[in-house]
Amino acid sequence: MNKNLLLAPGPTPVPPEALLRMAQPMIHHRTPQFSQTLAETAAMLQELYQTTQPVLMIAGSGTAGMESVVANLIGAGDKALVVRGGKFGERWGEIVEAHGGIAVNLDVEWGQAVDPKAVAARLDEDPDIACVFVQACETSTATEHPIEALAAVVRERDNVLLCVDGITGVGCFPLPMDEWGIDALVCGSQKALQLPPGLATVALSERAWKRAETVQRTGTYYLDLLKERKAQAEQRTTAWTAPVSLIHGLNEVLKRTLDEGLAQTYARQECLARATRAGLEAIGLRLYSSAPSRSVTAAWVPEGVDGAKLVKYLRDEMGVTLAGGQAKLKGKIIRIGHMGYVGPFDIISGLSAVEIALDRLGHDVEFGRGPAAAIAIVREQWPSAA
Ligand SMILES: Cc1ncc(COP(=O)(O)O)c(C=O)c1O
Repeated sequence: MNKNLLLAPGPTPVPPEALLRMAQPMIHHRTPQFSQTLAETAAMLQELYQTTQPVLMIAGSGTAGMESVVANLIGAGDKALVVRGGKFGERWGEIVEAHGGIAVNLDVEWGQAVDPKAVAARLDEDPDIACVFVQACETSTATEHPIEALAAVVRERDNVLLCVDGITGVGCFPLPMDEWGIDALVCGSQKALQLPPGLATVALSERAWKRAETVQRTGTYYLDLLKERKAQAEQRTTAWTAPVSLIHGLNEVLKRTLDEGLAQTYARQECLARATRAGLEAIGLRLYSSAPSRSVTAAWVPEGVDGAKLVKYLRDEMGVTLAGGQAKLKGKIIRIGHMGYVGPFDIISGLSAVEIALDRLGHDVEFGRGPAAAIAIVREQWPSAA
């Protein structure tokens, strides 16, 4: 039997404190006790998102959060500029079209960040575009898009909104919603929120709420954010049966995160990203992204090694779960998640396992180089707990 190490870009490990909290006996969701937890959690989410707007909790995976944004901001025939630099960018476009919108695609080479000037040019060309959809981190390519710069471009235009999939961004690196002027920000529980899958969080800016109030929606019942805002922000309850255990877990994780402080959390996350990148490069793997993310790292599998076999060997023989490539990157890259409840020694161990697995699959490996490079980064850069 292997001891398992979860280094996927979601789901991520759940801290024992959150597991214990979620294991408490069930309480009813229409009770003062649950209302209290919901209100407390909502207030902490506002601190995490750095917004004065309500952050709504929705039972559903991250995609439900994405769809709630589209369903409430895009009407039939509305145009949306979709930054497509990977699988999740494509998903925005598919959701827009499922809701009767017109996706104007801005294709970006996989592994590269979008150029804000290209976004500005497309918005100038087409004044009918109502929303820009983008990922903070395109998880399929482990690439960060420059959200602050994009927000500056979009903010100059009164009639355009910036909608950010922050599913592998929120809690990993700064995305201060109000300060930067992000109009919609989505997160999912199984990433930096350190919980099991099944809970999405969504916030809209004042501008976005105005649009949500007037847009000719094509229709959603469950994902009606106006109804959800009324329930959660005004009545301290949820529109539908709340995912009670997940919200208790979120309450626990957010308390721990805010106790630590966002700056410290981001500094830890950044150090883990640097250690992972340095470790993979020292093993001789080339990083895939030219704008590597602080939440997940992707690297090319060396020539002659089957990436799918590498991931399978690591999982089945070594108990180490990381991710392979998606779509056209299947078998070609590996992706290591380092967001949430992941520590430096998880990364160092994971790199050792990658070395052993590569060796077993016939690749020439000088043992210890990857972990040593990661150790050097951790030794120099791990933020003091002070
Ligand atoms: C950037 C990004 N967007 C969207 C999703 C989809 O979220 P879910 O699988 O929770 O629906 C993911 C999940 O990996 C993601 O990483």
